[in-house]
Amino acid sequence: MGMIETIRSVVRFAPVERDRTARRLARVANVDDLRILARRRLPGGVFDYIDGAAEDELTAGRNEDGYRRLELRPRVLRDVSALDPSTTLFGRTLPVPLVLAPTGFTRIADPDGELAVARAAARAGLPYGLSTLSTRSIEEVAAVSDGDKWFQVYVWRDRGLVAEMLERAQAAGYSTIVITVDTAVLGRRERDLRRGFSLPPKIGLGTLIDGALHPGWTWDFVRSEPISFANVVGKSVGDGGDPVTLSDYINSQFDPSLSWADVNWFRERWPGNVVLKGIQTVDDALLAAEHGVDAVALSNHGGRQLDGAPPPIELVGPVAQAVGDAMAVLCDGGVRRGSDVVKAVALGATACMIGRPYLYGLGAAGERGVDWVLEFLADGVRQTMALTGCVSIGDLDRGLVRWRGPAAP
Ligand code: FNR
Ligand code: LAC
Repeated sequence: MGMIETIRSVVRFAPVERDRTARRLARVANVDDLRILARRRLPGGVFDYIDGAAEDELTAGRNEDGYRRLELRPRVLRDVSALDPSTTLFGRTLPVPLVLAPTGFTRIADPDGELAVARAAARAGLPYGLSTLSTRSIEEVAAVSDGDKWFQVYVWRDRGLVAEMLERAQAAGYSTIVITVDTAVLGRRERDLRRGFSLPPKIGLGTLIDGALHPGWTWDFVRSEPISFANVVGKSVGDGGDPVTLSDYINSQFDPSLSWADVNWFRERWPGNVVLKGIQTVDDALLAAEHGVDAVALSNHGGRQLDGAPPPIELVGPVAQAVGDAMAVLCDGGVRRGSDVVKAVALGATACMIGRPYLYGLGAAGERGVDWVLEFLADGVRQTMALTGCVSIGDLDRGLVRWRGPAAP
């Protein structure tokens, strides 16, 4: 056989993918790849706001390391041909134990922002938590998603404004409120301090250069509607018409006197489910149960608040054991693979939440980037269950995992 035939027989040219987003996603294998793509595409200030965390970012790193310290104990020969990773949360079926955590200012990653995330979540059958500090409103999100919608509450000093938002969320069909309790003041995010990062991002000399280096983002940003704090447009609290630093805004607008007594105030006003997000000790989980909430979200805000706070995965076992069936137990921070979700559920979590993974997806490839990451995580859950011999969520128990090194307390 001649050389030409030999070469012809081994060379296969893949058809050229014309769509740029599809081409970009075709080379992505995991969340870290998406993060690198997002870093390339987003201006430095925007990427650092999303990716960064408080002070030395120790907790942010430990959130992920916590999952790496957990080993799986696979069982074999268990007939996993009919595997079902679905679970029940607040009486609804989730196809996998996963929820999209609330994140503020999502339109800085992509002009479609919260609408893109809400649509992707609804397509995947997963709940989406809309932030108080969203850049699309409660009503705008409800108009594009008939999926399960949660509303995250930051408690304004103006309590009338909070009551009004609860009424709006109820009228728009949101099922659940998530009261974030780890933000008495904003954490010290040193990447943002160094850059003087403001919201909405300002166009100054630094950002002009940054913008020129990220033409795709800049073109989208200047062409689309200006970013505003959509839930409070026109209110006296400031709607992003003038750029603000997040610490000035949060420290002046949100109520640092928030206490357990306020939980009852919410219970009386909200007929749906109540989640307390930012619980970080067994003692507070027990108090939450006493206050009759429907779930705790074990969370340190992705390490963005108190640096030195414990990784939530280490709290899952002790909290689940302490509260029993009294409430659902959610956890977030550092979930990057389907196997992480399996590990958390094995230790007693009802479901995990993700923040940065979907924001990396959005920053890297818009709405399809969010679809990509949700599929990746769901596939990972199924694959891990198959490889550990588990056919249903009920099979995921404490015996499936083992801490490497010293066990979590
Ligand atoms: C957040 N998070 C957050 N939480 C909240 O209750 N209200 C909010 O407005 C925000 N905003 C926000 C913005 C950005 C850019 C990030 C990355 C995070 C925290 C979020 O809900 C969640 O707790 C963490 O993101 C979970 O950690 P991972 O998944 O990012 O590691
Ligand atoms: C943050 C706020 C918006 O973490 O919760 O940036």
